Amino acid sequence: MAAPRGGGSCFVLGASGATGRELLRELCAQRPFSRVTVIGRRQLSLPEESGVAVAVVDFERLGEHADAFRGHDVGFCCLGTTRSKAGAGEVEKLVEAVDFDRCTILRPAMLLCARQEFRPAEWIMQRLLGFSARFFPTAYTVPVETVARAMVASVLQPSGEKVEVLENKAIHQLGKTVPQPCT
Ligand SMILES: NC(=O)c1ccc[n+]([C@@H]2O[C@H](COP(=O)([O-])OP(=O)(O)OC[C@H]3O[C@@H](n4cnc5c(N)ncnc54)[C@H](OP(=O)(O)O)[C@@H]3O)[C@@H](O)[C@H]2O)c1
Repeated sequence: MAAPRGGGSCFVLGASGATGRELLRELCAQRPFSRVTVIGRRQLSLPEESGVAVAVVDFERLGEHADAFRGHDVGFCCLGTTRSKAGAGEVEKLVEAVDFDRCTILRPAMLLCARQEFRPAEWIMQRLLGFSARFFPTAYTVPVETVARAMVASVLQPSGEKVEVLENKAIHQLGKTVPQPCT
């Protein structure tokens, strides 16, 4: 990973997960931001030459860690949660209520990714739905790399809407577009 050379700054939440890791890789490859901070609950060891800063915070006491978030232009959230934990659509409603200048919500279908940890149910679903992706590539699955590229593209090529919701097909489309680095 080389040092970033773009403008602006961003933070990434959930960078140790499947989506966040790929997003970080994409940010380091495209380098649309001059400053990237990973904010997580544990220390991540990243190559020094990546230029990525790491902030460790207590997510139960976020109010005490406002400095870690301050001064960034864009925030990417790839935190892991489930519908049973968060309630269907509840997180989205909370995010919208913050009233960000702009907000993009991605609703991916089954993520196709290689995990370090073994999740049996996900492994089985990935194989079943991964096979269906040969015939219906945008219906039931999405490669995690496509999601990461779509996240970056949603910032570099804003839709103009204050709140934008991308369903699986739109994620596929946006994730395929050629990146346009910001100036
Ligand atoms: N997998 C799928 O097929 C699928 C499909 C659609 C939507 N989604 C959603 O997409 C999101 C990302 O999924 P993923 O598979 O990339 O997630 P993941 O691999 O499980 O990664 C989760 C990330 O969130 C962090 N995290 C989890 N709980 C946390 C907590 N209480 N406090 C602070 N950090 C916490 C983890 O940090 P640590 O490394 O410290 O644990 C990790 O960085 C999830 O919300 C998931 O529900 C997933």
